Amino acid sequence: MVIINPHKFPGVFLAEDSDRQSLSTKSLIPGKSVYGEKLIKDGVDEYRIWSPRRSKLAAAIRKGLSEMPIQPGSKMLYLGAASGTTVSHCSDIVGPNGVIYAVEFAQRSARDLVGLAALRKNIIPIVEDARHPARYAPLVTGPIEVIYQDVAQPNQASILYENLKTFCSFGAWGLLAIKARSIDSTQNLDRIYNKEISELDRKGLEIVENIDLDPLEKDHRFIVCRVTEEMM
Ligand SMILES: C[S@@+](CC[C@H](N)C(=O)[O-])C[C@H]1O[C@@H](n2cnc3c(N)ncnc32)[C@H](O)[C@@H]1O
Repeated sequence: MVIINPHKFPGVFLAEDSDRQSLSTKSLIPGKSVYGEKLIKDGVDEYRIWSPRRSKLAAAIRKGLSEMPIQPGSKMLYLGAASGTTVSHCSDIVGPNGVIYAVEFAQRSARDLVGLAALRKNIIPIVEDARHPARYAPLVTGPIEVIYQDVAQPNQASILYENLKTFCSFGAWGLLAIKARSIDSTQNLDRIYNKEISELDRKGLEIVENIDLDPLEKDHRFIVCRVTEEMM
């Protein structure tokens, strides 16, 4: 028998049975599995198992994330939404009073994302390139409190910075999944991470957390940062 208990982060739950404890989110659209994840009924509610092997945000929680800026009611911008695996869990967490502007430039993934957004009204899909925030700024009604970025391409720190500068103000959060091998396939991992992190620091962001996602996600770091007055 599976028992659902709240996690310390609002909107996140633990589904526990005798030998396992899994992260989950309460489904906004009961009866629908988004990417084949397991569904668990609990009275009138339904919970979706959230695997840290499928989502870097779940992996960061599992690896000890201490600040979780994505909460019920959050207004967020998600860069690198793909087909919406992690976006769908963020959609459960932010709930009907929150909104997720989800940016993806690959047409095939974006098609799935648009399908997901047709069911989940708190997702606004944007088929655009995250390197050019000015292009989609007219579609985003601010202020944005959190930017989550998982774009797996070079210049990850500068893409996050440009988006924070465009959409956010003092105190807003940036969550960045750095994929080292998308930046450089040959260099030492620590050198790659340090370069991205010092770029954020130089640009006036406060680095709040720096989490190694290994072994849940190989060669990935998860950075939590915050917009300071100095950056504005
Ligand atoms: C690792 S996948 C994202 C997985 C997703 N965040 C999740 O957890 O479900 C990276 C995605 O970023 C997208 N991407 C890469 N560069 C991008 C850019 N400049 N603008 C928009 N999307 C981009 C890719 O097309 C890909 O779908």
